[in-house]
Amino acid sequence: SNPSLLILPGDGIGPEVMAEVRKIIGWYGANRGLNFDVSEDLVGGAAYDKHGTPLTDATMAKAQEVDAVLLGAVGGPKYDVLDFSVKPERGLLRLRKEMDLYANLRPAQCFDALADFSSLKKNVVAGLDIMIIRELTSGVYFGEPRGIFKEGNERVGINTQRYTESEIERVARSGFEMARKRGNKLCSMEKANVMESGVLWREVVQRIGDTEYPDVELSHMYADAGAMQLTRWPKQFDVIVTDNLFGDLLSDLAAMLTGSLGMLPSASLGAPMANGRPKALYEPVHGSAPDIAGQGKANPIACILSFAMALRYSFDQGDEATRLEKAVEAVLADGFRTADLLGEEGVSPVSTSEMGDAVLKALDAS
Ligand code: NAI
Ligand code: MG
Repeated sequence: SNPSLLILPGDGIGPEVMAEVRKIIGWYGANRGLNFDVSEDLVGGAAYDKHGTPLTDATMAKAQEVDAVLLGAVGGPKYDVLDFSVKPERGLLRLRKEMDLYANLRPAQCFDALADFSSLKKNVVAGLDIMIIRELTSGVYFGEPRGIFKEGNERVGINTQRYTESEIERVARSGFEMARKRGNKLCSMEKANVMESGVLWREVVQRIGDTEYPDVELSHMYADAGAMQLTRWPKQFDVIVTDNLFGDLLSDLAAMLTGSLGMLPSASLGAPMANGRPKALYEPVHGSAPDIAGQGKANPIACILSFAMALRYSFDQGDEATRLEKAVEAVLADGFRTADLLGEEGVSPVSTSEMGDAVLKALDAS
């Protein structure tokens, strides 16, 4: 049977960019014999409008069954007044939590045609291709105790950075496995100089490396130094693995080395299912962009590249993923730009669907 894919377009520009991905999925069926059992459902504000909840139990169950979930974006000003328990973001958080997606993959890749877009010098970013893996389900965003407490005659805000050995082990393995698929080089980042969780993190990652991945070149770096090195000479890195908090900051930093939010894909992976595939959710890094929603201006590339990641990491179609990435690269080299990628004079923007069609044409030519 065909691999299964659940599409959750969501809100704002989510459905607009997902429409372009649907064309590309159709292209793979018609031209490469790659067929998927695609189902589609609501998430976020769209689900709230229909069902009074940002994610129904039925959709949650479906997400647990399929080989991969592809999500557009959730949220919008219309829902800002809602109670926290039914806010659109809660739909996404529930998916991540119940699927136990502990490894967040954030590539930072610089397409040559957009190298001028970076805030860094062109030679520093041209050809850049690194992968940051952020631990996503533990650490200081979840550790107990947490809260705002009374202490004497003032209040104290508390969060707890907490990692168990097994939590570090599993994300470390994600890092080493990724390194084997790429340049065989892994850099682990923490702050073992000032944090106990960092001491344990370093020790566990080193042990997993020594015992299970002696072939992978492992290095350790303090996360603050890592931030400096990422802006000084990012090409020294290949795969970086780090915790939830540092990964949040470092992946945003690395992403912006390479240009627009409209270009950035992501994947969140969990433990292998019975069929050997990891639980997986793919989504663009950007949100629902209410300021441009409904105007045909959204850049669909982040969502298209998220599907390319699904091809590579869920469906064992690395060559087809590369084909799609090369098609995007060709379209950019040909000068196609959605409004968010403008900057050069004399270039007029293409619409969301024109960008999608251009990628299809480049696929035809591949
Ligand atoms: P945003 O990512 O939606 O937009 C930030 C800026 O980037 C806007 O100016 C937007 O027009 C632009 N932009 C984003 N994606 C683009 C694309 N594909 N093409 C062209 N321009 C693009 O972040 P913002 O404005 O902070 O949040 C808007 C809503 O999205 C909020 O409700 C927020 O909660 C939600 N959000 C949802 C996320 C998700 O679904 N994973 C992630 C981030 C925010
Ligand atoms: Mg962030």
